[in-house]
Amino acid sequence: MILILDFGSQYTQLIARKIRAKSVYSEIAPFNISPEQIRAYDNLEGIVLSGGPSSVYAENAPRVGKEVYDHGVPVLGICYGLQLTAFLLGGNVKPGVAREYGKADIQIKSTGGLLEEVENGSTVWMSHGDLVESLPAEFEVLASTENCKYTAVRHTSRPIYGIQFHPEVHHSAYGNQVLHNFLFHVCKAKPAWKMSEQVEMMCGHIREQAAGRDVVCAVSGGVDSTVMAVLCRKALGEHLKCVFVDNGVLRHHEAQQVMDNFEQLGVPVKLVDAAQAFLSELDGVDDPEKKRKIIGRKFIEILMAEIGANDMLAQGTLYPDVIESVSTKGPSATIKTHHNRVKEVLELIEQGRVVEPLKELFKDEVRELGAALGIPHDTLWRHPFPGPGLAIRVIGPVNDESLRILRQADVIVVEEIRAAGLYDKIWQLFAVLLPVKSVGVMGDERSYENVVAVRAVDSVDGMTADWSKIPYSVLGRISNRIINETRGVNRVVYDISSKPPSTIEWE
Ligand code: XMP
Repeated sequence: MILILDFGSQYTQLIARKIRAKSVYSEIAPFNISPEQIRAYDNLEGIVLSGGPSSVYAENAPRVGKEVYDHGVPVLGICYGLQLTAFLLGGNVKPGVAREYGKADIQIKSTGGLLEEVENGSTVWMSHGDLVESLPAEFEVLASTENCKYTAVRHTSRPIYGIQFHPEVHHSAYGNQVLHNFLFHVCKAKPAWKMSEQVEMMCGHIREQAAGRDVVCAVSGGVDSTVMAVLCRKALGEHLKCVFVDNGVLRHHEAQQVMDNFEQLGVPVKLVDAAQAFLSELDGVDDPEKKRKIIGRKFIEILMAEIGANDMLAQGTLYPDVIESVSTKGPSATIKTHHNRVKEVLELIEQGRVVEPLKELFKDEVRELGAALGIPHDTLWRHPFPGPGLAIRVIGPVNDESLRILRQADVIVVEEIRAAGLYDKIWQLFAVLLPVKSVGVMGDERSYENVVAVRAVDSVDGMTADWSKIPYSVLGRISNRIINETRGVNRVVYDISSKPPSTIEWE
């Protein structure tokens, strides 16, 4: 295994994930873990010192002792990790005159094992303020860029390496190769790790945290909460209490489908039918943010009522959900708040009563874990569905009639896309009910009815998206069926906006 000491970089988890993707187990520990704790790791094959936002000379800079280089395994310092290595071993670090963010071309002088098969002149991604000014004794330069003399360095007789660029980010063209070289040429790590082995380890962690208490979790039927619930059920058996809240703005037959699905997965779920309570609070509300607030508040109220005084809460929080809120194990800065971090949940976290077994994983790793747990493909590849549900897809006030129209139209959109074999190729797909009426002719009669918009996007993570190029024939069938089969609709339009500047949802 490779141990990553976290000095607070936003990329630390990405390093762990990239290493795991190469079938080598990797774990993150806070930078100030003791040398004894490091020695206690079985199978330690290498150590990575992550990047971080500090300057090594700053008063509260996170630092480690020189013993970190004495564990008999290779050490790779990345960005701040390199600067710290230079500082600890007798070199010098200076504040960069200009901060350097973005691409640079690497000029390789010697591969030193670390840069094997990296193309000379290829792009590396820089993100730093300080720079190493002089190397400690016995270090040599492997590569430079125009603004950074010590872009890659190594000790001439000990396995200590440092790089100023970030190999873990997509923009470093040969970043994967550099990590591969560190793992397999420098550390001689064995590519033996599989996600299925992680299951037992995660179950052990969950049991440890629960310590015999009951654990309550809310499931939505989506990928994250489903994988989390199946994993927790495996770990805790009867001690897991799942609830599914029907908030009245779910899709056609969704509550039943979700319940059936969990039955098949062998996870008992309690259905809380709160549809009327949600709908009466939503009555007449047309502001999307107010809709979100009402639904979010009500949901948390219902969930909290399910948690006994001694119970724990389990959440399917993923790494990208918290990356921008708080770094879980290191000193990275708070950027934004997530709905899994509302006041009530934060209080439970403070009391040590929240389990988040997926907190270190990315979406693709969660799907891999789900597959290892035997969860069927269709569940693992279900499109995302927002917490506020159809309430933000009925533009304007929500009522029974608008929900009926939207549900019918939405079923048709999904059915036709599945029939065309396109569901897995599209990232998210749905119908939106617009607050306009338009004139049409139906038979010999003039009609004046609702307009439905169809939205389908291609995306990787929902942060940016492009409208899906669905074949005209499929769009034609969707439009025909919605107009023929959905009473109250006489026009269908297709949304051809990308994100940005538009968003995926209309509200
Ligand atoms: P936007 O519309 O911001 O959506 O481009 C990006 C992704 O987030 C989902 N979304 C939400 N999910 N609560 C959620 O749980 C929300 O309030 C919410 N708003 C948008 C959206 O469906 C898409 O997948």
